[in-house]
Amino acid sequence: MERLPGFRDFYPEPLPHNDVWSADARQYIFDQWREIARRYGFREYDGPPLEPLELLTTKSGEEIIGQLYNFKDKGDREVSLRPEMTPTLARMVAAHERNYKKPIKWFAIPQLFRYERQQKGRLREHFQLNADLMGELHPAADAELIALLIDTLRAFGLNAEDFVIRLSSRNAWQEFFKNGGGDTLHEYAFFQIIDKLERTPLDESEKKLSALGFTLAQVNTFIEAGKPTEELETILHNLAARGLKDFVKVDYQVIRGLAYYTGVVFEAFDRKGEFRAIAGGGRYNNLVKLISGGKVDMPALGFGMGDVVLLELLKARKLLPKFDAPMDVFVLIEDEALRPVSLKLVHDLRAAGYAVEYPITPAKPDKQFKRAQELKVAHTARLDNDAYVRIRDLKTREEIVTGLAGAANHLK
Ligand code: HAM
Repeated sequence: MERLPGFRDFYPEPLPHNDVWSADARQYIFDQWREIARRYGFREYDGPPLEPLELLTTKSGEEIIGQLYNFKDKGDREVSLRPEMTPTLARMVAAHERNYKKPIKWFAIPQLFRYERQQKGRLREHFQLNADLMGELHPAADAELIALLIDTLRAFGLNAEDFVIRLSSRNAWQEFFKNGGGDTLHEYAFFQIIDKLERTPLDESEKKLSALGFTLAQVNTFIEAGKPTEELETILHNLAARGLKDFVKVDYQVIRGLAYYTGVVFEAFDRKGEFRAIAGGGRYNNLVKLISGGKVDMPALGFGMGDVVLLELLKARKLLPKFDAPMDVFVLIEDEALRPVSLKLVHDLRAAGYAVEYPITPAKPDKQFKRAQELKVAHTARLDNDAYVRIRDLKTREEIVTGLAGAANHLK
């Protein structure tokens, strides 16, 4: 039985095949994500992986809607696996925002599902760090969130030569569109053309733009000028004060595909341009209001960082640590008469917090020792009798004999 295309199996290291993914690397990524979110005061939340279809089609835009894993459940409900976390977050916050002090700073690590064409950096399932800040309009909040994004990538050993945050603003584009005589009805269609500019043949973009009353030259001049709005200036100053200036640049080529974004938007890319976006996000000041049916009006912004591109990049830059999960102690049982006391020792050491292995069934001493070496244990422990234990440090080869009760203390 094969797994479905675009889905992954995660195995413990060392990996048996280059077609499978590392459960250890995944845990390493989650650990860094959680640690940096903690430093920035973000609290973890989660929601259901299956949602009513309607929640997910409200304001995401065609692209994501075309990629939904949706179906009718046995209760005749239209449902879908979540392709992103933001609508769920908007629903959750709207339901209980009164119980939380503003600004609300939350993060989650959901597994998301999109029926995409499988390609480098794009699968049908991925994990995504979502960090969102809600209830604050000031661009200082945008800077705080972007600083979190930068520091999260830095936690993996990536630096300003490896990645850059391309900072843009839908407000700037909105103004450009309005000043050029664009009809508000076609604003999102215009944003979509800009979003796909880098990936579309020039004549095709030119044709689409002219249908809305614009030329490619006009658009390119605006992008090349890259004049930051006041809001972007504030964010740049804020980041410069933290020493993070080198990690950002204004780039109006970025506009983001999702329909709900309202203001500042940004994407993180590797500097060499070898990979797809590592992360993307922005302001969505109207989504909570829309999803709560007008009951709660709350400005918000956030970003999502996927594990797929990040892992590709860390591998390419040789920044992944070695994962060999060494054990602390191997308890040798050479005399089966001592098995009950040995089991007590195993249990006590584990209760004291040590990672402990032992032969589950009787085995020859040399086999046991070989297993201990394979497991890269730091120590072996062997009972001399039912009162004394011999602990050996495999690196220094030092050996001591201690009473059973003192074994855990000695390891400390
Ligand atoms: P997004 O740009 O659709 O934004 O996704 C964010 C990141 O998730 C991407 O930059 C990419 O690293 C990863 N990603 C997306 N789709 C796939 C895929 N099919 N395979 C692998 N990785 C993928 C959002 O989802 C927004 N909801 C983020 C957000 C949070 N905005 C505000 N708050």
